[in-house]
Amino acid sequence: MAGYNILILNGPNLGALGKRQPEIYGTNTMDILPELLLQVLGENSKRVSLEFYQNNSEGKLIDRIEQAKEEGIDGIVLNAGAYTHTSLALADCLAWIELPVVEVHLSNVLARSEPLRQKSFIGRHAIGVIAGFGMMSYALAVQALFQHLEY
Ligand code: DQA
Repeated sequence: MAGYNILILNGPNLGALGKRQPEIYGTNTMDILPELLLQVLGENSKRVSLEFYQNNSEGKLIDRIEQAKEEGIDGIVLNAGAYTHTSLALADCLAWIELPVVEVHLSNVLARSEPLRQKSFIGRHAIGVIAGFGMMSYALAVQALFQHLEY
């Protein structure tokens, strides 16, 4: 049975999770993510290798995606933070990279008051979008990506 290498890629301000606007993003830090994802994957966790990367810079995120392609990463769970709503550069990268990407957000961006958050530059290059479930958004995204790679 095949194993899969999955990259969990977090963009700007997501390193500050726990301290940052907890009323929107919750009080957990990213530290809980590895354990949570393995738990949710259950038996399938044995067949998945997870890598985590966070950076505040647009270019560094693009570099990491290009590197993922070279390394043979099978798929990406991407929370691009505010770059979701602004970055044509990130969208251009996803357009050619040909890796399955699940776009995730902790908050339900469609329900937020700023209209700009309802626009995603990257969504059209994603196989799907999961938003609004806090840390569980990542867990749902990893499960969805696993199923996508499997079937
Ligand atoms: C976010 C939503 C974005 O609009 C925001 O800029 C973030 C976090 C989320 O996870 O809910 O930084 O991607």
